[in-house]
Amino acid sequence: MDKFIVKKNAVEEKIFVTQPLLPSLDSVNQQLEEIWESKWITNMGTKHNLLAEKLKSVLKVKNVSLFNNGTIALLTALKALDLPYGSEVITTPFTFAATPHCIFWNGLQPVFCDVEPDTMTIDADKIEKLITPNTSAIVAVHVYGFPCDVEKIDKIAKKHNLKVIYDGAHVFSTEINGKGIGEFGDITMFSFHATKLFNTIEGGCLTYNDDKLFRKIYNLRNFGIQSEELVEDVGINGKMNEIQAAVGLLNLDLFKKEQEKRAEVKDFYDKHISNIKGISIPKMPENTTNSYQYYPIVIGDDYPLTRNELYEKFKTINIMTRKYFYPLCSDYECYKNLPSSSKENLPVANDVKNRVLCLPFYGSLSRDVLEIICEVLNEPV
Ligand SMILES: Cc1ncc(COP(=O)(O)O)c(C=O)c1O
Repeated sequence: MDKFIVKKNAVEEKIFVTQPLLPSLDSVNQQLEEIWESKWITNMGTKHNLLAEKLKSVLKVKNVSLFNNGTIALLTALKALDLPYGSEVITTPFTFAATPHCIFWNGLQPVFCDVEPDTMTIDADKIEKLITPNTSAIVAVHVYGFPCDVEKIDKIAKKHNLKVIYDGAHVFSTEINGKGIGEFGDITMFSFHATKLFNTIEGGCLTYNDDKLFRKIYNLRNFGIQSEELVEDVGINGKMNEIQAAVGLLNLDLFKKEQEKRAEVKDFYDKHISNIKGISIPKMPENTTNSYQYYPIVIGDDYPLTRNELYEKFKTINIMTRKYFYPLCSDYECYKNLPSSSKENLPVANDVKNRVLCLPFYGSLSRDVLEIICEVLNEPV
């Protein structure tokens, strides 16, 4: 590999794992003027409806319902499927807190399933042994942008009459064999949080094939209010406002360029990291497009530093990597006593949680910083 010039002191400002995709202030002001002029700032306005329509083709899905954030969207997805109160939902511990919390907030019991070592998504081969007569659904996460084994999960769900919800917070625009990833399962949630590739500051959506879910989800997102005098369901407030939608419309024009820049960052990392003994780079399956949401590496026993030591080393030079997803959700105070949280049930997840490190990954990451990161990885001691 190229020898980098040592410039480890060059990082003066903190480098974070990501940076939000920001449209120009001029373009935002233009949108704000239009919104102010219309005097319609929330409640399914024109920008909201336009964004939902455009997302159908960007995500290659049949139905899109927009939300004020991904967590409320996921909460609503579980509600919309009318799962029996108190029933068990099989999920992964290797995810963000929102995933099991949404299960629990619906009065359902999260049951943690182990993950695959390569993609760190739920291990479909381990799902069936967790199914009981009380199981109602599977909530799987396309973690870091790696797709779950959607075919195997689909087969298991059909065999046991279970609903499938995908947490697709990390897979904006991902396709499997040319099909939008949001087409799989009963419902998929996408997050449009500021840290995501495509953002509406805060926001999210649900995608689904069953047209009948549209009215149900509309109601659940809008206090159950269908019309002035008709309240049909026990809904909450999950509406995306016009300013969020406007930022989304602007970012729709920018996200592909950002993906291209991230592809270059990925190439640079791949080239300079892939030969390092003790570091492995999880690979995207051939039939899947990359969302370019994260760049995780896995630290093996034969690397001179542990993952935590490497994280600390980067911190001393102002480079803030992330130990996603450490701790596991099954380690949280609120879930650690569940039977499925035992280490015996989750050997792979408990191993990878101590090995994964997400590197800074965004289009405007400078070449200098990239060189420094790769230099540290190549010569950690
Ligand atoms: C895997 C996963 N699920 C759910 C969420 C929650 O989404 P939001 O922040 O839009 O509520 C996030 C991240 O924010 C996430 O990473």
